[in-house]
This record gives sequence, C-alpha cells and structure tokens, in this order.
Amino acid sequence: MTSMSEHDEGAAVAARIERRWTVVSAGIVGLLVGMAIFAGIHKATMPQAWVETANPQTLHISGEFVESNLGSAVEADGSVTVRAIGQQFSFTPQCILVPTGTPISFRATSADVVHGFLIDHTNINSMLVPGYISVLPAKFDVPGEHPMPCQEFCGIGHEGMWAKVKVIDKATFFKMAADKRRLTCVE
Ligand code: CUA
Repeated sequence: MTSMSEHDEGAAVAARIERRWTVVSAGIVGLLVGMAIFAGIHKATMPQAWVETANPQTLHISGEFVESNLGSAVEADGSVTVRAIGQQFSFTPQCILVPTGTPISFRATSADVVHGFLIDHTNINSMLVPGYISVLPAKFDVPGEHPMPCQEFCGIGHEGMWAKVKVIDKATFFKMAADKRRLTCVE
C-alpha cells in the first residue's frame, strides 16, 4: 500500500513538471509567432523610406544619368555626389575621382542588366538593378586607388567589366572642381 502511494506521488510530481514545461515551450512558440506577425505587418506597412527609380531606356536621353551629368559633383553643403552607370560591359565613368575626408554619395544604376558595384577595400558592395537607383554613402580617409570590379555575372564580357575609384587630396579636388562642373579621372 505504501509503495502504491509513493508511486502516485511520483506521478503527480512528473505531471506537474510536464505541465510547467508545456507552458514554457508553448510560450516560446507564441513569442516567435508574435514576432513573425509583428515583423511581417511592420515591414508591409513601412516600406523602405526611399526607393528611387530610373527608366533604363531613357537614361542617356534625360534625367540625372545623362552622360554630361556623370562623374563627381560638389554639392552646396560641401559633400560630393558621384553619378555612374553600369552597362554591358563597362562603367561610366571608367575612373571615378573623389576627395579624402569628405562625405560622398554614390548614385548609380544600370542601363541594361543587373551589374555589381563593389569598391575594393571598402564596405561598398551593391547591385545595380535596371530601373532602380543604388544610393551608397562613403568616406575615404587616405588617397589611393581602389579597383571597382563588376561582381554580378552580367554576360560574356563580365570579367572584363572594371572601373576604378581614385581618391585624391581634398584641397586638390576642390581646386579642380572650381572650374569643372563634373570631375572624373578618365584620361
Ligand atoms: Cu557587369 Cu558583371
């Protein structure tokens, strides 16, 4: 009889522990489902703050990516905006000129298929998607040259699609910018 009641007691303890852990694991599942619902609704109701578009078929005719507007431009606030396009199988401009110690905004897009925009020895690594403008902030501390290979397979000439970014002393850059609307280092 004694042994029977001990058995019942043990079963009751086990049942209590099982219930407790059922509640804990159900709570974890509930929390994760809640997070998924929140993230899904939040993302659907709050799209990216800016998605800028550009028609790849008219890039060369009008808008900010016409050829005369490509390259580096000094803005009123002293920052520099660089505009570039990728196309099979080159970048324009082929040599991008930027100053040291200056906030830089790269604005780039594609005229045909998806290309890659990667600046060596920086954390800039993006895709150029036709129809969309990629906006990438940057700052360069030291003068030098950075290779800029296309890093998305874009066709037969992909591996030959390269440009470079040349970083020069800030004072020299702004002196050059004084008499030229758009700067590049294309020779
Ligand atoms: Cu352009 Cu690969």
